[in-house]
Amino acid sequence: MTIIPRLLLPLLLLLSFLFSGGNSGRPAFACGGPDSAAMRFCRRDLPIKVRVRDLLARLTEEEKIRLLVNNAAPVPRLGISGYEWWSEALHGVSNSGFGVTFGRDFPGATSFPQVISAAASFNASLWELIGRAVSDEARAMYNAGQAGLTFWSPNVNIYRDPRWGRGQETPGEDPALAGRYASRYVRGLQQSAGGRNRLKVAACCKHFTAYDLDHWRSADRFTFNAVVSRQDLEDTFEAPFKACVADGNVAGVMCSYNQVNGIPTCANVDFLRATLRAHWGLNGYIVSDCDSVEVLYKYQRYALTPEDAVADAMKAGLDLNCGPYMALYTRGAIQKGKLSMADVDNALANTVTVQMRLGMFDGDPASQPFGQLGPKDVCSPAHQALAHEAAQQGIVLLKNAGGALPLRSSLLRSVAVVGPNSDVTTTMIGNYAGIPCNYVSPLKGISLHVRTVHQLGCSNVACVGSTQPIDEAVAAARRSDATIVIVGLDQSVEEETRDRDGLLLPGRQQELVEKVAVAARGPVILVLISGGSVDISFARDNPRIIAILWAGYPGQHGGKAIADVLFGFHNPSGKLPMTWYPQAFADKVLMTDMRMRADPDRGYPGRSYRFYTGPVVYPFGYGLSYSKFSSVIAHAPTELMVQLNSRQTESDQPSNSTQSIQMIRVNQAQCDSLIIPIRVNVTNVGGVDGTETVLVYASPPIGSPSWAPQKQLVAFEKIHVASNDTVYIEMGIDVCRDLSFADLQGLRMIAIGDHNLQIGDLTHSFSLRVEAPNG
Ligand SMILES: *[C@@H]1O[C@H](CO)[C@@H](O)[C@H](O)[C@H]1NC(C)=O
Ligand SMILES: *[C@@H]1O[C@H](CO)[C@@H](O)[C@H](O)[C@H]1NC(C)=O
Ligand SMILES: *[C@@H]1O[C@H](CO)[C@@H](O)[C@H](O)[C@H]1NC(C)=O
Ligand SMILES: *[C@@H]1O[C@H](CO)[C@@H](O)[C@H](O)[C@H]1NC(C)=O
Repeated sequence: MTIIPRLLLPLLLLLSFLFSGGNSGRPAFACGGPDSAAMRFCRRDLPIKVRVRDLLARLTEEEKIRLLVNNAAPVPRLGISGYEWWSEALHGVSNSGFGVTFGRDFPGATSFPQVISAAASFNASLWELIGRAVSDEARAMYNAGQAGLTFWSPNVNIYRDPRWGRGQETPGEDPALAGRYASRYVRGLQQSAGGRNRLKVAACCKHFTAYDLDHWRSADRFTFNAVVSRQDLEDTFEAPFKACVADGNVAGVMCSYNQVNGIPTCANVDFLRATLRAHWGLNGYIVSDCDSVEVLYKYQRYALTPEDAVADAMKAGLDLNCGPYMALYTRGAIQKGKLSMADVDNALANTVTVQMRLGMFDGDPASQPFGQLGPKDVCSPAHQALAHEAAQQGIVLLKNAGGALPLRSSLLRSVAVVGPNSDVTTTMIGNYAGIPCNYVSPLKGISLHVRTVHQLGCSNVACVGSTQPIDEAVAAARRSDATIVIVGLDQSVEEETRDRDGLLLPGRQQELVEKVAVAARGPVILVLISGGSVDISFARDNPRIIAILWAGYPGQHGGKAIADVLFGFHNPSGKLPMTWYPQAFADKVLMTDMRMRADPDRGYPGRSYRFYTGPVVYPFGYGLSYSKFSSVIAHAPTELMVQLNSRQTESDQPSNSTQSIQMIRVNQAQCDSLIIPIRVNVTNVGGVDGTETVLVYASPPIGSPSWAPQKQLVAFEKIHVASNDTVYIEMGIDVCRDLSFADLQGLRMIAIGDHNLQIGDLTHSFSLRVEAPNG
């Protein structure tokens, strides 16, 4: 080792600072000082368990209590800084939490499409790539002291009702799709470097569970009691969380505000300790929604004192409080004998372990994995290109009468671009967004291809009052070669704390579309920008509207992606991740009714494509392409044996008069490698290259109980197929995971008999049989 002369040292430090790009690296969160070598919790060579125990032994009771909240206090005595746990990264680094600050070297971050749009791509590798890009940007901002490392994303609640203002944040209505999204996005974000246990950033699946109502009529999320059957809980509401924990290995879960069957989720020991930790094996921390511990006392009166609220939550398994209650009332709860210091230690062990896995106790962030990420890695050309690709892949073509799209720009002298969402920017990024790198609005995107005439038609999406500039839009349509009407919703209609009342276009938007359609000289194309579905059956059935696109909330480059699809620079492949119900559904069904399964005797139609029996505007999984695909099943078994564990006894066989077939419990089957292999050949018989999204559904045998799903998504795969080419894909259906559904007690069952697989127009029947255990 060379000894550097004392005078040279400051100069070298200055030089290394300049060469590191001048970015003001954050000081070490902990273990950066000269005395850290003496503290075992700082020793990277020791197992995290040992380090956590050492740290807890050094902290005083007061110091510990101040670490139980999102704005954890510093412990200067031990060289530990304060930490803000609340950062968000739903579809890009977001400043919705206190942990993220834009500005200086980080004026913005890449804003990917809102989750409902990303889900519409049905592209699982895309979700992971977005996660990686987002966590690159997150780490870069952390390294400069402008973000935390604990991100309370993604939101994987089931999009149960189309009116939910936060449905846009979710991957849709299907538990299998939501589960796949959850695990892939989380894996992308956390990107465990150097082994499963090390974290790039810590993700958090929220809001556990059955939370999908914000504010509807007199119902409010703070006091809403979701009445949920054990059956729906098991095979709908909990399913994405299970995938997030068990497959995604997420480092955090957030409990919700609402109650489930009379118990607030954040005080439910069955949910937190039994389900999340014991059954699913959560390796991470459990955090409350913001102020939801206070809500237990203040709004729900579930706890009679603030101390009870804190004790109830911590006893149930909560480790961290977003909000101040645990810092304020834990001492009192201990004094009143409601909690012990051992409870506090357990909670802290879970949070501190995550911080250690993130490297926060490893000294200087610059010397760690991902320590070199900086401003150049945020809004990089590669990330912005990915945001653009993601926006393209999330666009769903709903109507294309007579192959009217794509438009040929060379044949159009001018195009009218009208509608309240025609030149929007912030609308495209939805909620839980940050500050994007830049925007391409629809008008700007379309203007890259043709000469445009722009008229809003409605001054905003509410579009109320007699002074709306509808006539101006009609005049523009009358004198243009084609008209693109861009309507829909925004956060003034659907957002957190704001559920919709109905499913129609707000205000006079429909009138605008219809008047424009009547007057337009050229073809009329409707583009919908919205998170939730809209009942646009009027446009679907109007022959003057030749094409309809749903763009979701497509993110910063949404306008470019919309134009790419309109003018044929991208061949659409998105599919709807939720059922589009007609307005009649909202007239009839209470948003507060949690039941997924239909109850025909009482006129309740059920929810989601798995159970809903009524008419739809567009079904789940719907979406067109400019290509035409023809598929054949190249290989699929016609019979499969399920072997039972020796534990199986005759008396375990459920029997019920509503079913005439045999059902076995998943936990009695030998599930290992019980996979049905399916090979499908997809041929592009259209004139242009395209991408097909293959969805495989299974329907249970005839004679299944009435509460069995009509069908469920068991596999999906996206493939690019050149014109006149055939591509073959292999998929595996996991019998225990994908084919099962819950019985009335919430136990997963497999129906024995003939199951039907549907792949587009193809069906394939295979027979599931049981084999008694050997010996
Ligand atoms: C499916 O594609 C494979 C590979 O290209 C080919 O060998 C097979 O014959 C095809 N099967 C059918 C049924 O078209
Ligand atoms: C059998 O059906 C009845 C009535 O539909 C129901 O109440 C009961 O819980 C069912 N039992 C089982 C084991 O599914
Ligand atoms: C999935 O998304 C990635 C990233 O945009 C892309 O490279 C890939 O081609 C997509 N897959 C398909 C089949 O389109
Ligand atoms: C596809 O096949 C058709 C009919 O054989 C042919 O006319 C067409 O040129 C082919 N297209 C391409 C892109 O190869």
